[in-house]
Amino acid sequence: MHTIELPRVDLSVKPEVTGFYDPQTATISYVVKDPESDHCAIIDPVLDYDAAAGRTHTDSADRLVEHVRGQGLKVDWIIETHAHADHLSAAPYIKERLGGKIAIGRPITTVQKVFGKVFNDPRALAGKAEEFDHLFTDGEEYRIGSMRAFALHTPGHTPACMTHVIGDAAFVGDTIFMPDVGTARADFPGGDARTLYRSIRRILSLPEETRIFVCHDYPPKGRAPAWETTVGEQRRKNIHVRDGISEEDFVKMRTARDATLSLPKLIIPSIQVNIHAGRFPEPEDNGVRYLKVPINVL
Ligand SMILES: [Fe+2]
Repeated sequence: MHTIELPRVDLSVKPEVTGFYDPQTATISYVVKDPESDHCAIIDPVLDYDAAAGRTHTDSADRLVEHVRGQGLKVDWIIETHAHADHLSAAPYIKERLGGKIAIGRPITTVQKVFGKVFNDPRALAGKAEEFDHLFTDGEEYRIGSMRAFALHTPGHTPACMTHVIGDAAFVGDTIFMPDVGTARADFPGGDARTLYRSIRRILSLPEETRIFVCHDYPPKGRAPAWETTVGEQRRKNIHVRDGISEEDFVKMRTARDATLSLPKLIIPSIQVNIHAGRFPEPEDNGVRYLKVPINVL
């Protein structure tokens, strides 16, 4: 796998990155602005969801909208690093207000098929991912204003995970977390610890100075949430995958650790919405949209 030659990282291009931390789900959403123009991308926007009431809120998404409007930015892309299992995506809400193309990795079609079975969802089983405006392939180059960016397929947590390298910044989704937290779990349907290790080594083969922006932070007691690190720092300090930790050791550690984790609280609502680019099922004849709960499946 991964034999293609990657585009070169251009460390001279330094996007202006603003992170928005959601304490409910420990997710960081990003606005990534081209320093040479008013163009930007939004990465992993969160739709707040009160599971007990079945009610959505847009406080988190509105912070992004206000930031973009306040600075007069033009949104080229709304990028999902993967189909999240811990929060619902606000991509459609953001697109309606700010424009931009909703994009995810092409293997989302595989994720759709896996969860299409779980949710008995014919649209997902068809695996066409038609609700997305664009599906990135490994190594694909694209632009945000004047900046060159590329997608890097980094599966393991899920089959469709992509890291996005924009100038000197890499948005790594759920692969590595901050050095003192380690790595993402690899036990969801379609996940794999060995694949995750190889994807992470791929990220850590980027230049040492490359800035890394993580998708979640679960800080140890006493540390405030943080989301920016570098390839060099990860190679020296990451508690799960710093240089010198072998694939076998990682797989053993990751597998043992995953066996102790309970499922994310919002996995059932999140996945069935996020595999459709954040769109809820069509309303039933009473005008209400419903989500499904598969019993004794996950
Ligand atoms: Fe995730």
